[in-house]
Amino acid sequence: MLYGGDYNPDQWPERVWDEDVRLMQEAGVNLVSLGIFSWSRLEPAAAEYDFGWLDRVMDLLHAGGIAVDLATATASPPPWLSHKHPEMLPVLADGVRLSHGARQHYCPSSPVYRFATQHLVEQMAKRYAKHPALAMWHVGNEYGCHVPACYCDVSAAAFRSWLEERYGSIEDLNRAWGTDFWSQRYSGWEEVLPPRKTPTWPNPSQQLDFMRFSSDELLACYEVERSVLTEHSPGVPVTTNFMRFFKPLDYWKWAEREDVVSDDVYQDPADPEAGMRSAMAGDLMRSLGRGRPWVLMEQSPNRVNWRDVNVAKAPGQMRLWSYQAIAHGADGVMFFQWRQSRAGAEKFHSAMVPHGPVASSPTWRETRQLGQELRRLDPVCGSRVEAEVAIVLDWESWWALELPSKPSTRVEQVDQLEQYYRPVFAANVVADFVRPDHDLSGYKLVLVPNLYLVSDAGAASLVSFVRAGGALVMSFFSGVVDPFDHIRLGGYPAPFASMLGLRVVDWLPLSDDDHLTVSFPDGTQGRGDLWSELIETTGADVLATFSGGRLDKHPAVTRHKFGSGSAIYVGTRLDQPAMGRVLSSVFIDAEIEPAIDVPSGVEVVRRSVPRSSILFLLNHRDGAVDVPIAKAGTNLIDGHEVHAGLLRLGPYGAAVIREGW
Ligand code: GLA
Repeated sequence: MLYGGDYNPDQWPERVWDEDVRLMQEAGVNLVSLGIFSWSRLEPAAAEYDFGWLDRVMDLLHAGGIAVDLATATASPPPWLSHKHPEMLPVLADGVRLSHGARQHYCPSSPVYRFATQHLVEQMAKRYAKHPALAMWHVGNEYGCHVPACYCDVSAAAFRSWLEERYGSIEDLNRAWGTDFWSQRYSGWEEVLPPRKTPTWPNPSQQLDFMRFSSDELLACYEVERSVLTEHSPGVPVTTNFMRFFKPLDYWKWAEREDVVSDDVYQDPADPEAGMRSAMAGDLMRSLGRGRPWVLMEQSPNRVNWRDVNVAKAPGQMRLWSYQAIAHGADGVMFFQWRQSRAGAEKFHSAMVPHGPVASSPTWRETRQLGQELRRLDPVCGSRVEAEVAIVLDWESWWALELPSKPSTRVEQVDQLEQYYRPVFAANVVADFVRPDHDLSGYKLVLVPNLYLVSDAGAASLVSFVRAGGALVMSFFSGVVDPFDHIRLGGYPAPFASMLGLRVVDWLPLSDDDHLTVSFPDGTQGRGDLWSELIETTGADVLATFSGGRLDKHPAVTRHKFGSGSAIYVGTRLDQPAMGRVLSSVFIDAEIEPAIDVPSGVEVVRRSVPRSSILFLLNHRDGAVDVPIAKAGTNLIDGHEVHAGLLRLGPYGAAVIREGW
């Protein structure tokens, strides 16, 4: 079980390093992400390298039994590079060019940046490929975090090449972008631009292609480095750290190029739903790696520094959320960062080793305790989390859904994902994330929150899943456009109308202060907000209707038997109890159950190992709770036997029970 954090020894005099290693050993650290922002120290001037200090740190760590996730240091180019080549600095849509002085100040298409990173990474790879401390490569850092896209002339030329590759002819581009609208027809490639600041909305198909292009351009930067690394150190895993549900990068594509998926998760302790949100992120990371264990690359030991008010984690919360990441498939828990910086923009961000006296720091004590506990969790490594439910997330649809000039701009992808995930989490049902065109045959239930854009293959895959006996729940404003963001004609939602047994006659989005009553046949009522629509059934049964107003008695929720399966459609954003009720009845019909029944506020996830299984119990409440256990086992955290009966979990407590041992 990997344990450690970002290590920035170049911020400290060398005499501190010995203490670092001693404290790392005390805390059970076995891996550090080294030198993520060290470019200006490693290459203080063009092609002049100073690796002496890094050699010493690598050797020291190795001697101390600590492995290294060695960073390529390319996330923050040194000032000399952009001073010499200002054209490598990124430009915003309004033409403003960003300066150096923070980090990530590069245009992803810049040949200067790519050339410079390739050369630095070649030096690093040659020098450290055989170093015994090297365990993993950490390419860049949080790609796209600050600069997800660039609109400069260099980017414009690269965008044109990308488009030529995609469409072949300017005629096809005109067709794909629907340029007969507003006289946008292009007569030659040289006229085509990124969607820079325009008098009003730029062409939506152009914007969508620019998002695809921008994700691909950053991926190309990553690929420049990865190809150097795999050439010099074949077999050493390569990763770059993701940022949960990060819109600008199509992580499905990115994850295919990683040996290990890794993620940075910064829950807000002030958010009462933080636990639900990090569970959802964990499920996404596991799914991006197609079930392989992932690594929690960064979390904060305590406070961050970048919210307006940086609320501290409650005692035990960091430990709980660490176990939660492992429950959802992580085989490693890491932090930003090891030692709290003395200077710079992040000096108020917590670290494993705080500014003040170390031994008396509660943050240090909790990280040390966790590190010591995790030493006993090796039996968990490599085990899998099996899910019977899949939630559809497609980045292209997300991008298109949130482009402006829609019936409502309030429909947001992550909000809609959470609409579904909340009841899934509350019911302790484990879910994977999938793209619509993935193989869905292993799932009993597929949830489809607002799949606005869908390809023919994606639509066919969902329809076949239901036809073959699967259960599916889909919400409003799905199947509306094709991959060019052109309306799919023939009646909304054209590709799903026969599967759903209905037709949407008209969309009636709701203003912020408006809501509708939704009535179920058993007399219960719920609330719908954000959206409503006029639905005409063509075979579906009505599960709930709108009450009052112009949609009075019209369907709000429907179910249609299709082939050997069934498809539910939800025509509004239901409140949580109503959404919970709809999903619970689907869980019952599809025979989907939690690993064990637990009191509310307790999360339960099972990881499977050959011939055994490991049960994670996570108490998200700040009070103790008793959990009924049916199967005896051993709590790996403390080695104690767990008997059938009630197991007490303290506030934010956790148990990791190897069942049957
Ligand atoms: C991100 C970055 C780190 C650091 C932390 C602070 O995750 O990767 O370098 O800035 O945020 O929370």
